[in-house]
This record gives sequence, C-alpha cells and structure tokens, in this order.
Amino acid sequence: MIPVRIHDEAEGSRDRFGRPLHDLRISVTDRCNFRCTYCMPKELFGASYRFMPRSELLSFEEITRLASIFAGHGVRKIRLTGGEPLLRQGLDDLVRMLSAVPGIEDLTLTTNGSLLTRRHARSLRAAGLRRLTVSLDAVDDAVFSSMNDVGFPVEPVLEAIENAGGEGLSPVKINMVVKRGVNEHDVVPMAERFRGTAHIVRFIEYMDVGNTNGWRLDDVVPAREIVETIGRAHPLRPVEPEYPGEVARRWRYADGAGEIGVISSVTAPFCGACTRARLSAEGRLYTCLFASEGFDLRRLVRSGASDESLSAAIGSVWGRRDDRYSELRTSNTPSEPPTSERRIEMSYIGG
Ligand code: GTP
Ligand code: 5AD
Ligand code: SF4
Ligand code: SF4
Repeated sequence: MIPVRIHDEAEGSRDRFGRPLHDLRISVTDRCNFRCTYCMPKELFGASYRFMPRSELLSFEEITRLASIFAGHGVRKIRLTGGEPLLRQGLDDLVRMLSAVPGIEDLTLTTNGSLLTRRHARSLRAAGLRRLTVSLDAVDDAVFSSMNDVGFPVEPVLEAIENAGGEGLSPVKINMVVKRGVNEHDVVPMAERFRGTAHIVRFIEYMDVGNTNGWRLDDVVPAREIVETIGRAHPLRPVEPEYPGEVARRWRYADGAGEIGVISSVTAPFCGACTRARLSAEGRLYTCLFASEGFDLRRLVRSGASDESLSAAIGSVWGRRDDRYSELRTSNTPSEPPTSERRIEMSYIGG
C-alpha cells in the first residue's frame, strides 16, 4: 500500500502517489458566449440553463486569499479559466491581485479570444498577466463557426492572437481540439497558419470530459497520427519538455519555423505527473478533471475559517488524492469510462 504523505513545508504537499501540488486552475465563471458542440451543446445549455448567480461566485478577495494559501502548499502556476474568463467583470483587477501573491511565478489564462481586443490584451499585460492560451478549433471559417455553434467568425479570434502577441503576452499558445471527421482536415492548415511565428499550436485529443458531449473513442484522432500528418508536410523533430510534467509533447519544425505540441490525454495519459488542482467559480476544489465531487472551500471561507484551517483542509484533500482517471480509462477498456459516476462539465471547471 502506498503510504499517505502529509504536508511538508519544505517540499510542499504531496498526494498518495507522491505527486506535488504545483498548478492551480481557477475558473472565474461558468458562462460562455460560445456553445462549442463538444463542451456546451445548445440543447443542454439553452435559455433555461441555470448558470451560477453572482452571489455564489467567489469574490476576487476570496480567490486571492485562497491562492496565497495554495502557494504555501507549493503552487507556483495559476491558470484562469471559465467558461469564458473574459466574461467575468473586472478580470484585470483579479490578475493584478494574483500577480502580487508571493510564490506565484506563472500567471496565465485560457480564453476563446472572442472578446480579446488589443486594448484588453494591453490592460491584462499591464495588470501582470505573462502569457495566454487561445482556444481555436479551426482556421476554416465555416468549420470554426459550426464548431462554436453561435456562428462566430474566425477572423476576430485570429486578430486576438496577434493582439496578444503584439502586447507581449507571449508565447501565445493555441489549443485545437481535434475531432475525427469534424476538423481533422484543418490540422495541416492550422499548423501552416502559425508556422514561422512565435505562437505554439497544441493539438489536443478529444476527451470524454463531462457527461454531455456523447464522446466516442472513434471521434479521437491519436496524437501520433497528428504528428505524422503534419510531419509529412513539414518534417518535425522532438523537443525535450520545458518543465517536468508538461502536458504537451513538444515538436519543432526541422527547418526552424517554430514549434507545435500534441496533448495525448486519451492515447498516452499523463496522470503520473499530474500536479494540477482545480478551483471552480463557486469555490469547490477538484483534484481531477474527471472528478465527480469537489471539496467546498467557499463554505469554510464564508464561515470565518482561519488561514490555518483553510490550509489544513487543502493539505488534507491533496494528501488523500489518488486520481488517475485517464490512465485507468486507457488501461481498462479505452472506449469505456472507468467510473459510472456523473462527472463535472468542462465549462464548469475550465479544462
Ligand atoms: P502550458 O502551461 O502553457 O504548458 O499549458 P497547460 O499544460 O496548462 O495546458 P492547457 O491548460 O492549455 O491545457 C491544454 C489542454 O490539455 C486542456 O484543454 C485539456 O484538454 C488538456 N489537459 C490539461 N490539463 C489536463 C489534465 O490535468 N488532465 C487531462 N486529462 N487533460 C488535461
Ligand atoms: N477534450 C479536449 N479538450 C477540450 N476542451 C474542452 N472540451 C474538451 C474535450 N472534450 C478544451 C478547449 C479549451 C480548453 C478550455 O479545454 O478547447 O482549449
Ligand atoms: Fe466556451 Fe471554451 Fe467550452 Fe467552447 S470550449 S463552449 S469556448 S468554455
Ligand atoms: Fe490529472 Fe485527472 Fe487528468 Fe489524470 S485525468 S492527468 S489525474 S486531471
């Protein structure tokens, strides 16, 4: 049996498998202005869907307080997510507050780019954001608008990527979820659109997150196939990870025209090095993207808990952690989920 490790100030907290707590992904809203078919299908996220009321969302002060306590457990990297994080009013203020938290070395966010004007990119940069990731599933306008399912055109998102890069939020990473028969033909055009720039496209295997996207193994385009397809057009060489536990496998064009990444959560899961905790917009702490239950930190915060007792609660949740969902799914029956429990939705926890 694997011994349960306890919190050690010197090295940060470790879970049951010895994995440290290094990244905190904070969702700031469950709302989004897109209805990507694999994430917030319109049939389920329609006019009658009940999003969280404002009073249920953690305030910026509550988020910042928790972030400082997480930093005490070893967190060095924070990613803001949604839904669509730019829908949260005053996000610049939160960025400013988080960038002042001692210990946080990397502060970034994942956005769909639809609201990212040049001015907004500049104010985020001024507030202390270092870099950002834009989700972009196709460069073909028709494919892009049908995937976001609100008819949003691709051009403003391409502009947003340039705005971000131009304001020093770089490198800009571009996340493309690849779905068999939907946007797989856009893989090479996507790679070519950003070859020769400092932006890094990451091709992501479509995952079985949530309960609503009707995921099937047949929909997944394996990362190996993506690398081969791009490599046939533009030879690629593998690159060492930038940091231990990096989610993306890196590849560089042999002719020096830049870098891409692939994220193989389905065919080659990376749970063994997973150092990520997720905080939902209403303050629940999840230790896996595929979890069913979160620990209610908001209740503790709003009942007047001290920093010490919040810290003890976080340490105990992380110390008990034994999640490795993607590994279990792949080693059991790849097409079947390893648990029948209802899982949280990607729009709720932000990817
Ligand atoms: P960098 O810090 O820029 O390297 O990015 P990141 O590693 O934080 O990756 P990002 O947040 O952009 O995640 C990209 C995609 O990888 C997500 O949208 C998910 O599809 C997938 N992903 C990220 N983290 C996990 C994880 O913990 N488990 C699984 N199964 N997939 C993940
Ligand atoms: N599989 C893989 N990635 C997903 N994302 C959303 N749903 C899925 C899924 N089923 C990605 C989005 C975005 C990030 C928040 O998560 O494309 O880049
Ligand atoms: Fe919104 Fe991102 Fe989900 Fe698309 S994938 S619906 S942009 S949260
Ligand atoms: Fe981490 Fe869970 Fe993803 Fe595995 S499936 S990498 S444990 S979040």
